[in-house]
Amino acid sequence: MSSSSSNVPNEVELHPEIDLDHVPRHVAIIMDGNGRWAVDRGLERNAGHREGIESVREIIRACRDYGVEALTLYAFSIENWNRPKDEVSELMRLLEEYLETELAEVMEHEAQVRSIGRLDRLPPSTRRAVEHAVAETKNNQGMKLVFALSYGGRTEIVDAARRLARDAELGKIDPEGIDEKGFAAYLYAADLPDPDLLIRTGAEQRVSNFLLWQIAYAELHLSEKMWPEFRRAEFESALVDYQRRERRFGLTSDQVRDGEGADS
Ligand code: FPP
Repeated sequence: MSSSSSNVPNEVELHPEIDLDHVPRHVAIIMDGNGRWAVDRGLERNAGHREGIESVREIIRACRDYGVEALTLYAFSIENWNRPKDEVSELMRLLEEYLETELAEVMEHEAQVRSIGRLDRLPPSTRRAVEHAVAETKNNQGMKLVFALSYGGRTEIVDAARRLARDAELGKIDPEGIDEKGFAAYLYAADLPDPDLLIRTGAEQRVSNFLLWQIAYAELHLSEKMWPEFRRAEFESALVDYQRRERRFGLTSDQVRDGEGADS
C-alpha cells in the first residue's frame, strides 16, 4: 500500500478526462439525502446515515487519489440539533464509531483530521472521539480532512466577530485596519484555502448555512444523487464538471488568460 501524501497511488485507475494539474485544492460537500435514500427503500432514516458512511469512505479515498489538499464534510449542522432525539444520538454514535474505526486508514493516508463548529455542544464521548482523532493526526502532512460538526456558517462569522472585537478591545488590532483578509484570519480553519468546489447531493439547490464566507467564489456542483449513492464515479463527474468551467473571479476572460487578479 502506498502511504505517499502527494503522489497518486499507482494501483488506482484514474479518470482519463481529469487533469491532475487542475484539481480543486479544497472540496466542500453538503452530504444530503440519507433520509430519502432510506425511506425510498422502506428503511428507517438511520439506515441512510449508515450507508452514507460508505460514501464518506469512498470520497475520502478518491480525494486522496486525485491529490485534493482539503476536504470539508458537512456532517452535522447547527440546525440538525432540532432533529428527533434518537436520530441525533444515532448520528453522534456513528460519528464516534467512524472516527474510531477509520483512524488507522486516516493515518495510512497521512491525513490530518480537523473539525469546525461549536464542539462544546457535542456529547462528551463524541467530543472526545473528535479530539482524539485530531490529536493523533495533527502531525500528518497529507490531506486535511475537516468535519463540520454542530456547524453553522452564520455562527462561524459571529464567533469570528466576537474574537475580533475582543482583540480590538485589548488593543491588539486597530478596527480601522480590519480588511477581508484580516477578518478571515478569525474563522475556524483560517489556514485552509477557500473551497474551489462545493458539491451538494440530494437534488437540492441551497447552500444551507455552509461555509458562507469561504464559498464566495466556489464553483457549485449540484447532484441529483442521494448521498449514499454518491460514490467515486459521481465524484469524478464533479471534477470533470469543475474543470470544464472557467474561473474568472470577476475578471474578463482576457484578464484571466493574461494572469491578472492572482490575489483572488
Ligand atoms: C443529510 O441527510 C445528512 C446528514 C444530516 C448527516 C450526514 C451524515 C453522514 C453521512 C453519516 C455520518 C457522518 C460521518 C462523517 C461519519 P438527511 O438526513 O438530511 O437526508 P434527507 O434530506 O433525505 O432527509
